[in-house]
Amino acid sequence: MKKKILCIVGTRPEAIKMAPVILALKAASWVNVRVLATAQHRQMLDQVLSLFDIVPDIDLDVMRPNQTLPALTARLMTALDACFEDEAPDAVLAQGDTTTVMVAALAAFYRRIPFGHVEAGLRTGDLFNPFPEEMNRIVAGNLARWHFAPTESARRNLLAETLPEDAIFVTGNTVIDALLDIAERCDDVAPAIPSGQRLVLVTAHRRENFGEPFAQICRAIRHLADRREDVTFLYPVHPNPNVKEIACALLGGHPRIQLCEPLDYLPFVAAMKRAHFILSDSGGVQEEAPALGKPVLVLRRETERPEAVTEGVVKLVGPDFDAIVRESLRLLDDADAYRAMARGVSPYGDGKAAARICEILRTSFV
Ligand code: UD1
Ligand code: UDP
Repeated sequence: MKKKILCIVGTRPEAIKMAPVILALKAASWVNVRVLATAQHRQMLDQVLSLFDIVPDIDLDVMRPNQTLPALTARLMTALDACFEDEAPDAVLAQGDTTTVMVAALAAFYRRIPFGHVEAGLRTGDLFNPFPEEMNRIVAGNLARWHFAPTESARRNLLAETLPEDAIFVTGNTVIDALLDIAERCDDVAPAIPSGQRLVLVTAHRRENFGEPFAQICRAIRHLADRREDVTFLYPVHPNPNVKEIACALLGGHPRIQLCEPLDYLPFVAAMKRAHFILSDSGGVQEEAPALGKPVLVLRRETERPEAVTEGVVKLVGPDFDAIVRESLRLLDDADAYRAMARGVSPYGDGKAAARICEILRTSFV
């Protein structure tokens, strides 16, 4: 009899990173794949699922405007447990460190269903950076039967927590599978930027940056835009009201700052390819941009993705006005410094992570 695997997705990055796994499992004959969307994100999740032609079998529709972590956690736990009872899967798979993933791992544990953690072992060592994601991934990691670690350093983090060696598999990050697929077919949707202008792409959404840190990021961008007539900033604004309201108030109405709705993944990859460099606090962007040869200045104090920093193609600047301005000007004006960071390297994967995960699961079951 076929094994039943329930793949769970809640937010945009989970859908991007789970899509290659879901598609690889759907192509396999030994498994019955079911897709459960918690819809912790609504519009941004739907954008990705439709791009990859994935139609969820179950949709919990849990998102509420400006949702709080406790209320979201409670809604997810109740709804996921009811689904696990109905579906009775042989395994549950989820990716990353969102509230959806933490609750999915715990709900699976309560029902003694084996849990597979995609993108396992990322750590900063600081429970409050990023918040609440560092806690989410520690909980998911401690409950997992399979740890699909993207890199050797992620594997070492898991071993340091005394997780069993034979349950840890270094697979690469599935985001590179998704990126390589999309990067091949996105050139005709590149953003319209005035000719002769250099593009700086911006994303920001982390909870630990809400308030003054995020205001400082915005002031730095505006300061740069005021001084540089040769640069256009493109910022697809995250719909979280804690981000959107400040971004619109501090960056709106500037001739060289384009604020827009979140971009579909296809035009977003095209924008990364067109960008001179990227300012971002995103996890996924730190993995994708190096593979496209684009420098990233990370708007965070710590990162759980040290590989690209070690390679010298990603730099931490924090939500710090002076550092953002200084390092941005360096990338605009110092050709050698730019070249050193614009090397195409891909420390996070080779585009075959999903196939490896699929094969590890097959050999566990068949
Ligand atoms: C969540 C994850 C974060 C991940 C990020 C990816 C948690 C605690 N946070 O943060 O780890 O990096 O997603 O983007 O799991 N909203 C919409 N439409 C959408 C999505 C969000 O309107 O499609 C708004 C809603 O008002 C929602 C709010 O954004 O309540 C916050 O969404 P939430 O998922 O709680 O947090 P994110 O900041 O998106
Ligand atoms: N992304 C996108 N459209 C956008 C901004 C980002 O498709 O307007 C993609 C990006 O390429 C990456 C993912 O969304 O794959 C990152 O999501 P986000 O920054 O929301 O979450 P994180 O990776 O920080 O958890």
